[in-house]
Amino acid sequence: MHDTTSRPMRSARPAAPLATAIDSSLAIPGDKSISHRALMFGALAVGETTITGLLQGEDVLRTAAAMRALGADIRQEGAVWTVAGRGIGGLIEPQDVLDMGNSGTAARLLSGILASHPFFSVITGDASLRSRPMRRVSQPLAACGARITTRANGSLPMAIEGAREALPLDYDVPVPSAQVKSAVLLCGLNAAGMTRVFEREATRDHSENMLRHFGAEVTVKEIGHGREILLRGQPELRAADVIVPGDPSSAAFPMVAALLVPGSRVLLRGVGLNPLRTGLFTTLREMGAALTILDGRTEGGEPVGDILVEHTALRAVDVPPERAPSMIDEYPILAVAAASARGITRMRGLKELRAKESDRLAATAAMLTANGVKVDIDGDDLCVYGNGNPPPGGGLVVTHMDHRLAMSGLVLGLSTLDPVTIDDVTFVDTSFPGFTGLMNGLIDGAEALVAA
Ligand code: S3P
Repeated sequence: MHDTTSRPMRSARPAAPLATAIDSSLAIPGDKSISHRALMFGALAVGETTITGLLQGEDVLRTAAAMRALGADIRQEGAVWTVAGRGIGGLIEPQDVLDMGNSGTAARLLSGILASHPFFSVITGDASLRSRPMRRVSQPLAACGARITTRANGSLPMAIEGAREALPLDYDVPVPSAQVKSAVLLCGLNAAGMTRVFEREATRDHSENMLRHFGAEVTVKEIGHGREILLRGQPELRAADVIVPGDPSSAAFPMVAALLVPGSRVLLRGVGLNPLRTGLFTTLREMGAALTILDGRTEGGEPVGDILVEHTALRAVDVPPERAPSMIDEYPILAVAAASARGITRMRGLKELRAKESDRLAATAAMLTANGVKVDIDGDDLCVYGNGNPPPGGGLVVTHMDHRLAMSGLVLGLSTLDPVTIDDVTFVDTSFPGFTGLMNGLIDGAEALVAA
């Protein structure tokens, strides 16, 4: 795992600007959101859960380590992970601080579990995670009877004295956040009675789907663009088999690479197609992208398909704010696509991007500006000015410990006239281990995306 105190900086640049055509087929690594949840729900279930296709990225390994520290027995044999769960209420006090590394999902979902378990625990993370807002979970969770303290500015480390007999929560989530929604639901698992969460805009529903898969009673009512979710507390979660689909947020990077590099044709295999995750695919299609879904199927309760991506000249679009929750992690790579598109792409309503692994709104704008692309930040909107030609490049991408910025910068470098340099690519492993090697394998004749 990452050493969170010191980190060598590595430079990366594509060997050949305007790389030669990509013609390949690749399996997309497991979905990060679903992988975290599979480990957590498995630890809360009675019996042995098996997980196939778990993402073995740094973030998910942090969750595995934390659930082990809370008493679950988690083992890996080849591609299959097993979790011997302790049942709801059966976790034990960890002996040490739980370090969730770079992962906001791990930290926030775990805080929900810990709030309704009657023992003391402390969650921390790396410098990026320690700068992210945690009041969005500590405040609603405290209402169950837990005592939760954070640093004065509401950030990690966070100390949790879990409630002895947690009260069920009734919470209207003020920001569109699947992490906050999930934290409240996870807290409700060990509270007697009905937990209710209302979200004004629907966010990814993997927690709701997987809770049902493990035998919990969850009802969801659509109200306008939003949803009301009801969970009956203290169910007996039964161990279940989980098949993790490929992560659409990871598929986004080779997808945009193939769209931008002339002559490319790539088959992305086993990509999760949950409609609350596919806003980028909708947007790219509106830009003219040739994306064809092949072999659509359901695996482990989630829609999955293979996506054939063929190079296309893209045109600018106006991305509506209500689409943001379904593509919240994809704006940096969409901005890279927009830099090569013809016209001004406006992405609306990106306030939540400021609370990610970095301030992604500012960092995405800086990435493009440094590489000769005109951008504007207008309130919470990002405008990217493309002219249908390859962007100049030649600049430095500062990644601020953010894996998605690093991968966006690497893909940008495939489309520019001059090479792009990335300050640090080590964080790519948080969500897409092997990304640079995989891309090198795809790009004919390229020496390396990462300079040795
Ligand atoms: C996630 C939810 C999103 C997303 C993150 C994963 C999840 O965060 O950005 O990468 O697994 O629930 P928010 O819910 O905070 O927007």
